[in-house]
Amino acid sequence: MISRKKLIAGNWKMNKTPADGVALVRDIVAAVGKQTDVEVVVCPPFTGLETAGQALEGSTVKLGAQNMHHEASGAFTGEISAPMLRAIFTTHVILGHSERRTLFGETDELVNKKVLAALKNQLRPILCVGETLAEREAGATLKVVQTQTERGLEGVNKDSVGSVVIAYEPVWAIGTGKVATTEQAQEVHAFIRGLLARHFTDAVAQKVRILYGGSMKPANAPELLAQKDIDGGLIGGASLEARSFVELVTAAIAAK
Ligand code: PGA
Repeated sequence: MISRKKLIAGNWKMNKTPADGVALVRDIVAAVGKQTDVEVVVCPPFTGLETAGQALEGSTVKLGAQNMHHEASGAFTGEISAPMLRAIFTTHVILGHSERRTLFGETDELVNKKVLAALKNQLRPILCVGETLAEREAGATLKVVQTQTERGLEGVNKDSVGSVVIAYEPVWAIGTGKVATTEQAQEVHAFIRGLLARHFTDAVAQKVRILYGGSMKPANAPELLAQKDIDGGLIGGASLEARSFVELVTAAIAAK
């Protein structure tokens, strides 16, 4: 079996000024900026990307954005494109986060366009999928995750899907303090890997990292990260302080 390098990504959401972001990145770099066992990505808001990127220069920590437009340029007031992100050394981009889907009306079709644009520009998409509480209670979890994964990856070929990271984020667990049980999470992660094997190849499915997201904290991370198909975490709240974020990276190193 291929061993996948674990990935811990911090999704800062709409938090931190550029100066606050630099201070946080400096602390993260000082603690885990030299290790190579786990891939670490920080995703500041657009205004903090460039300065955070400068602060992590020379370290192993990477830079991610939280969203982007699928066109390269043009009359799209208020938007940011993949080439613009690449120009400031962004390597990853979160796409289809549930907050984008529910608060900003992003559809699977739009998310798919963004995934394709990211790959075309050598950005690694972190494609978020996950069910709401109502969907879980209706027994629709796997169906929802299947649709979001398949539609999100439409037109992605087997040579580039290895660059995609998938984040399973049950919507009811995001920012709520309610974490999925390890069994609930592992079941969905294994299901996603099975889907990838069916649509691409088993070798490809073994390569793709599938992160868990939703109230992941130092206290619950070791158990989640010990699951066979959980390859890291997309961290919201606990990524806003160096101490908890570094503890999560340390947990991932221990679980590698
Ligand atoms: P949370 O957010 O860790 O605060 O639950 C995760 C996310 O939305 O990516």
